[in-house]
Amino acid sequence: MKTRNLKIVIAGGGSTYTPGIVQALIKSREKLNFNEICLYDIDEARIEDMYLIVKYQLESEGLANEVKLSSTLDPEKAFTKSDFVFSQIRVGGMKMREVDEKIPLKYGIVGQETCGLGGFSYGLRTIGEIIKLVGYILKYAPNAWILNYTNPETIVSEAVRRVYPNIRMINACDMTISIEETIARDYGYDRKNWIPIYYGLNHFGWYHSIYDISVDRDIMPEILERLKSDGLKAADFNAGDKTWQEAWDMLAKISTNFPGAIPNNYLEYYLYSEETVEKMNPEYTRANMIMDGREKRTKAMANKIRQHVDEKILDFNFGEHGQYIVDMAVSILNNDHGRYMLIVENKGAIPNLRDDAMVEVPAYVGRNGVEPISLRFDIPDFHKGLMEAQNASEKLLVDAYFEKSYNKALQAFTLNQTVPNANIAKDVLDEFILANKGYWPELN
Ligand code: NAD
Ligand code: G6P
Ligand code: MN
Repeated sequence: MKTRNLKIVIAGGGSTYTPGIVQALIKSREKLNFNEICLYDIDEARIEDMYLIVKYQLESEGLANEVKLSSTLDPEKAFTKSDFVFSQIRVGGMKMREVDEKIPLKYGIVGQETCGLGGFSYGLRTIGEIIKLVGYILKYAPNAWILNYTNPETIVSEAVRRVYPNIRMINACDMTISIEETIARDYGYDRKNWIPIYYGLNHFGWYHSIYDISVDRDIMPEILERLKSDGLKAADFNAGDKTWQEAWDMLAKISTNFPGAIPNNYLEYYLYSEETVEKMNPEYTRANMIMDGREKRTKAMANKIRQHVDEKILDFNFGEHGQYIVDMAVSILNNDHGRYMLIVENKGAIPNLRDDAMVEVPAYVGRNGVEPISLRFDIPDFHKGLMEAQNASEKLLVDAYFEKSYNKALQAFTLNQTVPNANIAKDVLDEFILANKGYWPELN
């Protein structure tokens, strides 16, 4: 494997997360010696804006001569000679995210990017495109590492596993890092001392313990006490974003009502679906907030650069998001065996769960890829039951894609734990079929 003069490609380069990733890349350049960044996308306008922003970032750090920057809509140009591909595409863009969120809300059920039926709509849109993307990478750079965080992750990774079982692809989500970071900052811990054990499906799991090496014991019981007595406050980087504060409030509520494990905040959509629906505005959802916020700010940044405005231009802070992806690439390159929560085929990692489930568990990352740990304990029935239903519904959805089966899609929608009955499942499915014309396969 090449260890210097690396070429890094960001697929979905027009994403508003790109500047945060580039910032982390620049910070880590001593450990990840790249001399080329390529932004690959399907949307010319978005990639033009992002090219300007990244160029500005490189110039500000005095790296414009050392690092070649390119942007392209051509997969051959993008992936040829690439070493790492960071994959963050959003099939259908924010406009379709808005549809995913609003259609279920019309029927009084959860409308969310990755959870519930919104996540299923997004999943059926994304499978074909991610398989195409992976196909390009295998064709033009068969040895490249793909670090994927394209959502909905369990569905995406399950579909890719079926087509390319031995691929050099790492599926990661920043949510556990964000939960840990938020808890550590609010309660005054240093997360670097932690060895957490977590298990679940993506956006659907629990902490089993958090061993803190500075005190040599499991500190999860005291964190659970704090969650119960004080709640959890958003960290600086997402303070002011009311959606995140609401998510942390729900995390505290779940851990208080179901003591013994710190939950992933996304479980709120399954355990308290009515309450979350009540808080949502069916006319103005998270997609609208992002389009009016992050997307506009990014556009404005690019325009200021175009107009040579002389003021603080870069305005982004995604917490640990960019850094964790870059750290993972460093861990592969330097064979560091950093430990991350990753989405992998179970194969005994969670002993009492089916082997072919895509689960999220701790894993070590090195030059030979991902080495997940085995928990070596059985998870409790409450978690197991919830996960089995969720896993079966996700698998049925992926079956529906490959078999082009309406029946499987209806089963998947009905089994989803945000859905109260089969009538609603069918109504929402039929409406999604119309709304996703051209994106979904035709279901028969
Ligand atoms: P975004 O819409 O801002 O950016 C996505 C970009 O992908 C756009 O520029 C779009 O044109 C491009 N794109 C769409 N289809 C493409 C294709 N087939 N090939 C190449 N490019 C394509 O979205 P975002 O909010 O930045 O999110 C990007 C993705 O990352 C989403 O899937 C999101 O859910 C995911 N995400 C995951 C995590 C995680 O923890 N796993 C965290 C943040 C974001
Ligand atoms: C977290 C999750 C991601 C999700 C993102 C949504 O980072 O882990 O999977 O895509 O939140 O954030 P947004 O600001 O786009 O709603
Ligand atoms: Mn995630």
